[in-house]
Amino acid sequence: MKKRLSPAREHYFLKLFQEICDHSRFMQSKQNIQHGQTSVYQHSLSVAYLSCLIAENLSLFVDWHDLIRGALLHDYFLYDWHDKSHDHPRPHGLTHPQAAYENASRDFTLSLKEINIIKRHMFPLTLMPPTCLEAWIVCLADKYLSTLETLFPEWEPFISEEDLEKPA
Ligand SMILES: [Fe+2]
Ligand SMILES: [Fe+2]
Repeated sequence: MKKRLSPAREHYFLKLFQEICDHSRFMQSKQNIQHGQTSVYQHSLSVAYLSCLIAENLSLFVDWHDLIRGALLHDYFLYDWHDKSHDHPRPHGLTHPQAAYENASRDFTLSLKEINIIKRHMFPLTLMPPTCLEAWIVCLADKYLSTLETLFPEWEPFISEEDLEKPA
């Protein structure tokens, strides 16, 4: 499996990533740890990039715009879920897709596929399965990376913001 996207797709990925950074509170997620030592920001970037790699390597017919944006925003819940004193909805595993959706829909006009990606990425924990290919891809990429980040905290993310600006 190729580990970098084709240059044109990576350029498009970077463009959407920068638009989200510029027009939302996405950068705040740098301050919150997701799993192990990985921030929510880095986790979201990794999930989005891996989702695109899966689609590109398998030559899947996907809506790249919705796949990238939905994946970047899938954990846009904007709180530290480890903070026991914070009054975020609980249990976090079940409720954060809705929190991410509410934040994302405040900052952006979301497509139906983007909503499906965000709201259903925790399947099977949340009982409703994804209903589009893009949401299935993100659901699987998220499981894979969450497991790696939790079991191997020293694990180096395979893509960083800096990497995206360098040629493959
Ligand atoms: Fe999540
Ligand atoms: Fe996630």
